[in-house]
Amino acid sequence: MNIEQWDEYIAVKQAMDDLVKDLEISRPMKEMVQHACINGGKLIRPIILLLTTDLCGGDYKKSINAAVAIEMIHSASLIHDDVLDEGTLRRGAPSMYRQFGCSSAILCGDFLISKAIELISPYDSRAVRDFGRAGMHMSQGEVMDIISFKQGFGINEYIECVTNKTASLFSSSASIGAYNAGADEEMAMRCRRFGTNVGIAYQMVDDILEYMDVLDDKNSKKVSVSLPHIFDDQDMDRDDIISSSVNEVKKYVDAARSELGSFDCTETVRKLYSITDYITIDMLPSHVLD
Ligand code: FPP
Ligand code: MG
Repeated sequence: MNIEQWDEYIAVKQAMDDLVKDLEISRPMKEMVQHACINGGKLIRPIILLLTTDLCGGDYKKSINAAVAIEMIHSASLIHDDVLDEGTLRRGAPSMYRQFGCSSAILCGDFLISKAIELISPYDSRAVRDFGRAGMHMSQGEVMDIISFKQGFGINEYIECVTNKTASLFSSSASIGAYNAGADEEMAMRCRRFGTNVGIAYQMVDDILEYMDVLDDKNSKKVSVSLPHIFDDQDMDRDDIISSSVNEVKKYVDAARSELGSFDCTETVRKLYSITDYITIDMLPSHVLD
């Protein structure tokens, strides 16, 4: 599957590149914004936003600025996360604070958050509300993450942590896409639950890959307590730790898929199924899926 050929990917990438190119800002800030936004990530969250607009009967083109806003908040959160985690490598390049210094990196994150607020502000008030809530959840989840080494961080605390720090932006992406299409609360809630479940599964996979030490495009000096470490504390052997963690991933992937089951099986729904697998199950080495 090549997401980079999807219309939604092409549209959001083009909008992001144009926006960054046309920003009339000071040179040092522009250099950092380019470092963060050009050759950035896979644009998964903005694509989900555009797809849920489509799914709920809207025109995805009207959601493009909201999608760029989501990617900017995501980039800001990674810049700040790398300061907190002492992450040296991000997306195969030196992390922002490594390249430009800690103070400038924090300010670049602040700039991206502010630009994102400007971009989301003309949208439906429910979309703007969910956008703000994502940031509130992410920062609360990140606080849980940085104190995860303390006693009493078990599976429930881990799920609460990743639901906030990671899944909240997936869930808001999905609900904002729905609201932009004029969806009612019931439909927006189904999209939100899809986002939450896929976001939790995504973070679990990321944590499993980090535990297996197979990630080569990023690394951090500080490692938080994650699902495999929690199983490790229960005296499981390595194979059991990985297979139990993968079983948890599968549960959340199934839950995400079942939220989509109530929609007609259109090309858009097929893309949402594909993106769900692409960022979860498909990331895992085949030998751990047997
Ligand atoms: C990566 O986790 C980090 C996150 C998913 C969220 C970080 C959130 C914040 C710093 C709060 C930001 C708030 C706003 C409003 C922007 P990780 O360290 O497990 O993953 P990694 O391996 O990719 O670093
Ligand atoms: Mg990190």
